[in-house]
Amino acid sequence: MRLIIQPDYQSISEWVANYVAAKVKKANPTEENPFVLGLPTGSSPLGMYRQLIRLYKKGLVSFEHVVTFNMDEYVALPRNHEQSYYTFMWHNFFSHINIKAGNTNILNGNAPDLQQECADFEAKIASYGGIDLFLGGIGPDGHIAFNEPCSSLTSRTREKTLTTDTIIANSRFFDNDVNKVPKTALTVGVGTILDAKEVLIIVNGHGKARALRHGVEEPMSHIWTVSALQMHPKGMIVCDYDACAELKVGTYKYFLDIEKDYLNPDSLL
Ligand code: GLP
Repeated sequence: MRLIIQPDYQSISEWVANYVAAKVKKANPTEENPFVLGLPTGSSPLGMYRQLIRLYKKGLVSFEHVVTFNMDEYVALPRNHEQSYYTFMWHNFFSHINIKAGNTNILNGNAPDLQQECADFEAKIASYGGIDLFLGGIGPDGHIAFNEPCSSLTSRTREKTLTTDTIIANSRFFDNDVNKVPKTALTVGVGTILDAKEVLIIVNGHGKARALRHGVEEPMSHIWTVSALQMHPKGMIVCDYDACAELKVGTYKYFLDIEKDYLNPDSLL
């Protein structure tokens, strides 16, 4: 696993956006052979989306031949609800770049048959030959997508019940009212994420420090689903100094040393 340590949220956002843009450019995607990107929502990736929009506007990256799959979506929240992940993606990213609407894939939490919706999503990912780069964030309990503690580390896309902790954490987007937060969500599985050719997780702030320690230093465990990244041949976490608060000094110094030539975002593009 790679751990890229950056001073703050702004530099994480620049680093990840430059990394994504460089990957897309290098792949030289075409209509027949698009670049397939897995995408998250939440506050962690917002800065990265802003930076990617900036790079697109400067002509440094094109999304014409990029296909996206979002990680998760609430169940039974209308698609046009301001907190649906559909609205989030269009408001914060898709409507500002040259992506084709038909190339964006977001689970439909209002589908008549949710199990079928999840199976179709997996089949569509497979039809593209899998995901080239899956981006994600984590919850304070170390969940990736909505793979709450004790999710199977081989899980596939399915409906999951949200933990009380997650409902409380996400109530900040629902007028701080836990009763307004959906109780279940559709989410890709840990296995779906691990199938991607590459996985990059953004972790920022003190609130994620314990989860980062479990992901990086502790044994792999279904309690902290982010720790499954330890099994991925190309797994990477990009974090800020605050999120490192619970890492051992030795771990922190090791990654700063081994990645010293790659820490400057400008070195990527
Ligand atoms: C939700 C999402 C996760 C996300 C997490 C953290 O639970 N399902 O994909 O990583 O929130 O959100 P934030 O980035 O706002 O801390």
